[in-house]
Amino acid sequence: MSIYGDYIKSVIRTVPDWPQPGVNFRDITPLLQNSAAFRKLVDSFVHRYQEMEIDAVAAIDARGFIVGAPLAYELGCSFVPVRKKGKLPFRTISETYTLEYGEAEVELHSDAFKQGDRILIVDDLIATGGTMLAAAKLITRSGGQVVETATIVDLPDLGGSARIREAGFNVFAVCS
Ligand code: PRP
Ligand code: ADE
Repeated sequence: MSIYGDYIKSVIRTVPDWPQPGVNFRDITPLLQNSAAFRKLVDSFVHRYQEMEIDAVAAIDARGFIVGAPLAYELGCSFVPVRKKGKLPFRTISETYTLEYGEAEVELHSDAFKQGDRILIVDDLIATGGTMLAAAKLITRSGGQVVETATIVDLPDLGGSARIREAGFNVFAVCS
């Protein structure tokens, strides 16, 4: 957890029963509307990663892009989009993963980074961990070194972050 974790958590809204009954949806739009909070959020990631010699921030479609782009800018490294199936125009590699209901697929351009590059993966939230784990596997299969997987919110009760750690990847969450 970051030093701003409690503050960041306080500006994230929980919407009960959305998009379906039983889901407590963590809505980051109030955080994005609050310029001081958004700056503290990006600063939390910059503070953690500025000395880690990150070559690229790989951000997950779509909410991961919101933090991934300013973070890559501040770290002075490249930005790599990990996109949902069918959005990337060049040669891609893909990874299928299981959602609560059915399957999903994420893709990466085959020339997104150099072999051995140090990659930080970012997203807004880890629930079951399926999305982040699929992204980490994609990066690894492409020859990247996953330095860490980072998220704004971890929902530990859903077991995702434990699952990602068990697969051998580090996890950092600003709040949970
Ligand atoms: C949400 C969230 C994460 C993922 C977490 O993405 O942004 O990427 O779910 O769930 P998991 O840990 O169970 O895989 P969503 O597919 O809703 O996409 P969005 O960012 O485009 O809203
Ligand atoms: N993605 C998966 N579960 C979520 C949740 N509870 N809130 C926001 N995004 C999510």
